[in-house]
Amino acid sequence: MITRIGDTAPNFTAQTTEGEVDFHQWLGDSWGVLFSHPADFTPVCTTELGAVAKLRNEFARRNVKVLAVSVDPLDSHEEWIKDINETQRCTMNFPIIADAERKVATAYDMIHPNADNTAAVRSVFIIGPDKKVKLIITYPASTGRNFDEILRVIDSLQLTANHKVATPADWKDGEDCIVGSALSDEDAAKLFPKGVRKVKSYLRYTPQPKN
Ligand code: BEZ
Repeated sequence: MITRIGDTAPNFTAQTTEGEVDFHQWLGDSWGVLFSHPADFTPVCTTELGAVAKLRNEFARRNVKVLAVSVDPLDSHEEWIKDINETQRCTMNFPIIADAERKVATAYDMIHPNADNTAAVRSVFIIGPDKKVKLIITYPASTGRNFDEILRVIDSLQLTANHKVATPADWKDGEDCIVGSALSDEDAAKLFPKGVRKVKSYLRYTPQPKN
C-alpha cells in the first residue's frame, strides 16, 4: 500500500547499525527523518550520510531522530561506515537499517522498478511525534539531497503545527509567514499582535510567531 502525507507511518522492526529498532518505539516523542539509499559503497550515498552526520546538532535541537535505510546487510554497512568516516571526515552518529530483505523499502515504496528493480531511490519521509507522515520527497539515485532543505521543511512543519500560519516560497526560519486562510481579518489581528499586512484578501503576512 502506498503511504501518503497524513497517513500513519508504517511501523517495523529492523536490524540497524545501532541494534534492533522498533520504529515507533524508537521515535518516542521525537520527530523522525527516514531516508533511503540505493546501495552501500556508492559515491553519492557516501556524501549524503556524511552530510547528515555533520548536521547532528541541527537535528537534535529540533528534536529530530534520523534513520537511514540501505538494502544491504549489516556487515556491509559496518565496513561502509569506516569509509564514510574517513572520506567525509565525520563520525557516523545515527543508525542505518540493514534492509537486505527490502522489508522497509517495500513498506515505504522506496523501490521504483522503472528506475531500478532492486536498489531503492532516494526517498525522504518526515514523521511527526504523532507518527503521521508530514512530508515525502523522492530524488533519483544520481542526485544527492539538500539537507538544508530538509531542515528548512522541519522548521516550517514545527512552526505550522503550533501556529495558524503557512510559510511562503523559499521561507526560512525567522522570516514573515502567511496568515492561515481560515482566519478572519478580525481573528488574525487578535492572534498576531505583531501585525498583519494584507496584500490581497487571500494573501496576508505576519512576522513569524515565536515557536
Ligand atoms: C551513488 O550513490 O553514487 C549512486 C547509487 C546508485 C546509482 C547512481 C549513483
